[in-house]
Amino acid sequence: MKLFAFLPFLAPLVSAAAISSAEKPITYDGYKVFRIDTHGRARGAVIEKMLQGLKAVQYNYDTDTNIEIAVAPEDLGKFERMRLDFEVLDEDLGASIRAEGGFHPGGEQRFASSLNQLRPGAFPDESWFRAYHSFNDHQQWLVDIQAGFPENSELIEVGKSFEGRIITALHLWGKDGKDAHKAVYWHGTVHAREWISTMVVEYNTYQIITNYLKNDTTITKVLDSYDFYILPVVNPDGFAHTQTGDRLWRKNRLKHPSSSCIGTDMNRNWPYKWETTGGSSTSPCSETFRGLSAGNTDEITALVKFSEKLAAKNGIKSYIDWHSFSQLILLPYGYSCNEHVPNYERQMELARGVASAIKQVRKTTFTPGETCPDLYKAVGGSTDWMQDVGKAEISWCIELHPSGGGANGFILPASQIEPAAKDLWAGMLYLLPTM
Ligand SMILES: *[C@@H]1O[C@H](CO)[C@@H](O)[C@H](O)[C@H]1NC(C)=O
Ligand SMILES: [Zn+2]
Repeated sequence: MKLFAFLPFLAPLVSAAAISSAEKPITYDGYKVFRIDTHGRARGAVIEKMLQGLKAVQYNYDTDTNIEIAVAPEDLGKFERMRLDFEVLDEDLGASIRAEGGFHPGGEQRFASSLNQLRPGAFPDESWFRAYHSFNDHQQWLVDIQAGFPENSELIEVGKSFEGRIITALHLWGKDGKDAHKAVYWHGTVHAREWISTMVVEYNTYQIITNYLKNDTTITKVLDSYDFYILPVVNPDGFAHTQTGDRLWRKNRLKHPSSSCIGTDMNRNWPYKWETTGGSSTSPCSETFRGLSAGNTDEITALVKFSEKLAAKNGIKSYIDWHSFSQLILLPYGYSCNEHVPNYERQMELARGVASAIKQVRKTTFTPGETCPDLYKAVGGSTDWMQDVGKAEISWCIELHPSGGGANGFILPASQIEPAAKDLWAGMLYLLPTM
């Protein structure tokens, strides 16, 4: 694959606004990651409050049983004096991030402002899945793979991020030509730091295309039955920031008019039940900040419009929002912990089938459930919107590897990309022909 082949005379610089917001990169050198046993909900809330006094990054929000948190070296003494019940998941987060190989502090700022600026290179090979890559290289990968499947695919500019990066969809179709069938619809990397999600979405894409080119019977039938819309990176600014500024960044990079804190949690910004209290934050500094109004971010505005089009055209058969981590297959709803989706039994049956197909590969456990109560209450998420507004027949959030039982959260070594991706491909090989 050619690495991000710009037409140099068209190469824009990132806007001045984006440059001035660039903070000093955070390396996480000397940060330790802990898993704290909270011994129940009430105590979890108390502990969470105590931890807020530390310079730290909290990994999870379902604090009933445990809190995973990365604590800065200068606050390690303070943390130890709290005398919590904890285990150490990572002795030096900075070293793990360097070993992962995709973080380049203060790195690239240039990006294509139009897909036309990218020239196709060679068709990608499987070595792509042995490392993490920059946002720009992911754009180039999409251009390369589309060029190798010209009769059955196109790239779509779904919209632009706040800083002007392209949100790209790869559209695939089979023998009936484009727009003949219901959509299979995938979003990756809405949470910027969840790098494995980008790679798993691309691996599944790669398998569909290469197997179709080989006339594999199952995949031919699948692609002849659905239109695929695949968006490996729906939060390009956040993703770019995790590669050059802060590996643990979660939100987008939207500025707030009256706060110095940056970013909205795009998975709390979808315009459905957005205003419901308790599953998102109104504080711009929070990791789960829901935004100033429902769907007010550039990215969600573009994604809603695109999703509405798919829903109106032939309908959405199956939507998956790919996240990490915890190894869960989650049905809606996030806004309520009592409501079930109307076709709950059918969706659960399929989710259980996917989990058991995954298990057969190398005994990895994925657990089916509902966003609430099985993960936590989360309002303004994409799966609730897809289920009730987009009328998707299947609407899932899949939380990828690791399980959260002693591994290092968002930092999954590059050597784990292929094994993780193969697990999920087995799951898709069950879901896609069965659903
Ligand atoms: C797949 O089938 C098509 C159409 O029948 C044929 O042209 C092509 O050569 C086949 N490809 C392979 C790899 O067998
Ligand atoms: Zn996520």
